[in-house]
Amino acid sequence: MRDQQPQQTPDEQLDHISQTVRAELKARFDNIEAQGRATLSPSEAEKQLQDLKDLRTKSLGKKSEFANLKKSIGRLPAEGRADFGQRIQQTEGVLVQGFDDEEDYRKRLIETSRSERESIDVTMPGRRPRPGHLHPVTLMRERIEDIFVSLGYAVEDDREIETDFYNFDALNISEGHPARDPQDTFYTTDGFALRSQTSTVQIHAMQRRGAPVRMIAPGRVFRRDTPDPTHNPMFFQVEGLCVDRGITMAHLKGTLAEFVHRLFGPETRTRFRPSYFPFTEPSAEVDYSCFNCGGSGCRICKGSGWIELGGSGMVHPNVLRAANVNPEEFTGFAFGLGIDRTCARIYQLDDIRLLFENDVRFLEQFR
Ligand code: DAH
Repeated sequence: MRDQQPQQTPDEQLDHISQTVRAELKARFDNIEAQGRATLSPSEAEKQLQDLKDLRTKSLGKKSEFANLKKSIGRLPAEGRADFGQRIQQTEGVLVQGFDDEEDYRKRLIETSRSERESIDVTMPGRRPRPGHLHPVTLMRERIEDIFVSLGYAVEDDREIETDFYNFDALNISEGHPARDPQDTFYTTDGFALRSQTSTVQIHAMQRRGAPVRMIAPGRVFRRDTPDPTHNPMFFQVEGLCVDRGITMAHLKGTLAEFVHRLFGPETRTRFRPSYFPFTEPSAEVDYSCFNCGGSGCRICKGSGWIELGGSGMVHPNVLRAANVNPEEFTGFAFGLGIDRTCARIYQLDDIRLLFENDVRFLEQFR
């Protein structure tokens, strides 16, 4: 290059410099246009801005060909020197303007893309956060709790892992009883039982509070049942216990009758069928008249007109004794109801396991 330059006149040199610089600026402009302004990230634009500054220094800076040309003005023959001086100034003006324009353009891009990223369009429709809601079993549990609390019952919460004493012995479940079989009860590796019924809380509550006592205890229980539409190895019960002087079977019947009136309506009837539980004597199974057909028979009550509520009875003297309550002084009634079973009936679920699978599509229906 250098050896060709002496052959060029200063005018030609100026034209050459001007064309080269403009071509380089144009190439950069074309490049940014082709890339699409919108996709240019602020950091890319910053880089281009720096590149432009470097190009400006290289093209017009102190060590540039252009600067050399400017310095050579003084050595030019007098005539034409002024003209050339004017031309060179004009060219410099154009090139500087070109750089300024390109740099401004990048700066504006950086500016707009920053503010686009950082600003919020307050006119956009909002994205509604989806509020959660309670699980149907929890809703059911709370309804049951509310009723008993209004009848003067305390709500007890107790452990799910139990010793044999609370799960069996204290509940008058004898040594050889089939319920103790590991086929029916889950055991931890160190010999504790996952409670197979909330009746365990009867003992804890009487030990803690003594007598008289009135409490319910909702909670999880575990049994080694094979899962099917009406069984799940984990499910929810609510235990009830009322111990005082002079408590009779009439109190039990009145209490559960009141409970179903409040839960399903005042026309709901109850019936008690003789049954057997080791921890009550006498024992009874409780049914209520179907909330759907009122007793005439429908799909929900499977044509019988009655739905099973749970087990109940008069607390066995051995149970009172195990919890240090004197059976000569105190009597009591107890009951155990299935929370998820009742829930499944009310919502007409064909499969109780739906309540434990945590499929949001199912759960969302209980909003
Ligand atoms: N624990 C019994 C069960 O899981 C239910 C039950 C029956 C509880 C009678 C009681 C009761 O408190 O008195 O099947």
